[in-house]
Amino acid sequence: MKKILNTLLSLSLLCFSVGSFADVAKGPSLFDRMGGEKVARQIVADTWANHTSNPIVKNRFANSDGAYVKQKVYEIFAMATGADVKYTGKSMADTHATMNISEAEFNAVVDDVMSALEKNKIAKQEQNEVLAILWSVRPAVVNSNLTTKTLTTEKMHK
Ligand code: HEM
Repeated sequence: MKKILNTLLSLSLLCFSVGSFADVAKGPSLFDRMGGEKVARQIVADTWANHTSNPIVKNRFANSDGAYVKQKVYEIFAMATGADVKYTGKSMADTHATMNISEAEFNAVVDDVMSALEKNKIAKQEQNEVLAILWSVRPAVVNSNLTTKTLTTEKMHK
């Protein structure tokens, strides 16, 4: 019985120390490392300003409600970078599916975000982490309504 209790005690101590090491290893979120809400909102505002003056994509946003899109983009940016913020907008695929967005447009949007990060003096490490997040969203945004199947059906070639 004593042996079982000792084993349980060492196991729980082990779990406790692994748990605390994991917390230390995890460190502050990308969101916090970039400066938290104030900086994130500024990055979103600068990105919006870049989009609406970038000749490759500005027409896409001509009829958009800037305040609405900025709020949704802030939420998704905050959530994706580890803040305790809930995204309340539409899914990435639903939002962009009918727009037939090209790779050039996607790259232009990424460039706009990267120059907003640069403007807000975000370090290279954090910039790269944001870039990886943006690229993970790419399949849901670029040409999301054009699949090989739709491109090769007879309907498309008539
Ligand atoms: C990683 C890339 C992208 C992310 C994370 C993103 C994120 C978002 C979000 C969160 C919204 C608001 C969704 C809602 O209405 O609830 C939105 C809207 C929009 N996005 Fe994107 N987007 C990306 C790329 C692009 C690209 C490449 C384009 C085309 C140039 C684009 C064009 C638009 C437009 C026009 C709207 C506004 C639609 C409206 O006015 O309601 N997005 N995007």
